[in-house]
Amino acid sequence: MNLPKKVVVLVSGRGTNLQALIDHCKQSKTAKTAKMAKIAKISEVISSNKDAYALTRAKEANIKCSTLPTKRDDRDIFLFNRLEELKPDLIVLAGYMKIVPGKIVKHFKNKIINIHPALLPSFPGLTPQKQAIDHGAKVSGCTVHFVDEGVDSGPIILQQSVEIVETDTADSLAEKILPHEHRLLVNAVDLFCNERIRIEGRRVYII
Ligand code: GRF
Repeated sequence: MNLPKKVVVLVSGRGTNLQALIDHCKQSKTAKTAKMAKIAKISEVISSNKDAYALTRAKEANIKCSTLPTKRDDRDIFLFNRLEELKPDLIVLAGYMKIVPGKIVKHFKNKIINIHPALLPSFPGLTPQKQAIDHGAKVSGCTVHFVDEGVDSGPIILQQSVEIVETDTADSLAEKILPHEHRLLVNAVDLFCNERIRIEGRRVYII
């Protein structure tokens, strides 16, 4: 039997995307059709914020947690060392609000994925839902992509669009996109752990 893939999740806030991953791992563990549970295990949750509700979710699921130091240099060193120790197969940024240093991106090339609540390459960076509303976009959505050294600029794995209506605000759009984020992130982790993702340059093929 294959050993489960070791997944480390980086968080900063409320952790609904983390919860979607935890729930999926738990569900698939008991399901006969289990695909992900056989091959994905969240081995640690690392938070940039000691008060993140995501940490409570992880503890409730009996997942080991650690919190990063607040000073940037210390944080970068701690994160690199911890990831080096853990040697994860996959690192998931699930609402992680800090920049991942280039040294880590290089070291874990094509092993770090991020969920972003916009259709990249539109509206990268902070407050993407507000950016989409302010721009007058008629569609937005979410993207799961590999992390490269830029901001939200790596190869795109999966995307889902949602319609923006005239009454939408940044908050209502965020609420509309969120359940799609959860589904998309779980799917991407599943595909990765099942070795169904091939990258050629910027293009990602699902095999
Ligand atoms: C999500 O919208 C995610 O895409 C963005 O930050 C939010 C985090 O939500 N990067 P949560 O912490 O997973 O609930």
